Amino acid sequence: MKPLIILLTLLASASSNPLALPSESKSPAVQPMPIINSQLTYIGPIKPGGENVTLHGTAQSVLAQIKSLNPSFHPDDFEVTRTARAKFEKTLAKRELELQQRSKQGVTNCGLYGNALLDANTIIPILSMPGACYVGGGPRTCVHLSCVNDGGNNAVSLCNDNKAAIAPTCAYLGTYAQDICGGKCAFSVDAGVFFPFIFCGGQEFDTDHYNVIVGTSLLDTSRRN
Ligand SMILES: *[C@@H]1O[C@H](CO)[C@@H](O)[C@H](O)[C@H]1NC(C)=O
Repeated sequence: MKPLIILLTLLASASSNPLALPSESKSPAVQPMPIINSQLTYIGPIKPGGENVTLHGTAQSVLAQIKSLNPSFHPDDFEVTRTARAKFEKTLAKRELELQQRSKQGVTNCGLYGNALLDANTIIPILSMPGACYVGGGPRTCVHLSCVNDGGNNAVSLCNDNKAAIAPTCAYLGTYAQDICGGKCAFSVDAGVFFPFIFCGGQEFDTDHYNVIVGTSLLDTSRRN
């Protein structure tokens, strides 16, 4: 069943337990998502120890291209993706996601760009790309890392505020979505029902002048990302 259908079913069957926005999300009015004016470029290996390849698209389409180039590709064959995915599996099992602190500045702007209905299939593909996620110079140059149209446009986006291009590790960027959707910007119909989907939205900035946004976004279907 599609996550939106599950949500609607839960809403219909649990009217005594309505969706309540986290208190912080009452303050800002929903803003349009920054315009997605660029496309994610993946630069990384498709086999362990292999040459870098350059591919374009969201996590979902990049992974499909990697698998068609290397049918035996598995993200667990790379340390960076194995570690990121193992951590996510652990947090799935615990039904909570840990906020990681490196150069991250913490989750903010809950609900500012709307709330997305994310499931593991939105976040895991970002954690599964073993290379770098390149985005051109900004400021405010934004790409979709992951975008799923599941009765609504649910997106994880990366925005670069540097003049120069950046290329953070893709799997690391996936952990920003975990932070946003596992912390104060996440809510669901009932505290015990966190998965198979998370209803969440927010933003996390990095000291390196980029940020990741979870929210609703217009899909540019002409570019198939
Ligand atoms: C692939 O690109 C990364 C930078 O994104 C670089 O650090 C690495 O050395 C490259 N690997 C190869 C095999 O060229």
